[in-house]
Amino acid sequence: MVLDAAGAERNDLVRLAALEVRVCLACKKCASTNRCVIKDDVNPLLDKIEEADAFVMSGYPSFGSLNALMKVFIERNWPLRHNHILTRGKTGAAVVAGSSGLDDLDLFFMHYYEGYLGMDFKGTLKLRGNVPCMTCGYGEDGVGSGFLREYGSGAKVTPDKFYDPDNDPDAKGRARALGEAVAKSLSAAWADVRQISLVSERESGYLGRSGAEVQRRREFLVSGRG
Ligand SMILES: Cc1cc2nc3c(=O)[nH]c(=O)nc-3n(C[C@H](O)[C@H](O)[C@H](O)COP(=O)(O)O)c2cc1C
Repeated sequence: MVLDAAGAERNDLVRLAALEVRVCLACKKCASTNRCVIKDDVNPLLDKIEEADAFVMSGYPSFGSLNALMKVFIERNWPLRHNHILTRGKTGAAVVAGSSGLDDLDLFFMHYYEGYLGMDFKGTLKLRGNVPCMTCGYGEDGVGSGFLREYGSGAKVTPDKFYDPDNDPDAKGRARALGEAVAKSLSAAWADVRQISLVSERESGYLGRSGAEVQRRREFLVSGRG
């Protein structure tokens, strides 16, 4: 929904759960190369981020913080922001779903995008989520059931209790507003890029960075939650 409203020419949806994303080794070798020594699926994603004009991360709260897979990927973003902040000036937004702790994730993403990556952060779309106890098989009687905590003891897991953002006009409106904010930020960036491109044409004869390349870079990266 956010991406549709942003009207990107090209969207790439990346599901981290389908990829190999290993933990940062803290070797710091990326400080000089801007890429990671680990041979898994992360470096191609860093290429994608570097090429994109905007990217949207999504996740959910687990044990009081961002879900681990997304956090592992974010820690592997260090190559982008050491010697050079390769993401500076790009546009970012986040989508989170859950029943608690969404404000903390919003704050986390604000620091991630603005503080660490020097980006224009347009905000976090916060969505209601379905507690996992609704589908684990023990939601109606489990001692630690988040479902019973949310709906009260004796509650039954019935289809009407499942939340679907597609049937939530308010969520759709907020998604649209966030997408439009991303689009607005991009159109401002587009003007800047065209200007830089003109200057470099004159001063260095570097004609390559004309509309075609800039257009190619107008893509989004969305990282899915597990
Ligand atoms: C194992 C597991 C634990 C989770 N723990 C929490 C949690 O502690 N708090 C929370 O708000 N969401 C938690 N979530 C996320 C939501 O319950 C839910 O998965 C998310 O909101 C997305 O909803 P959907 O899966 O229905 O799209 C957890 C999800 C899973 C799979």
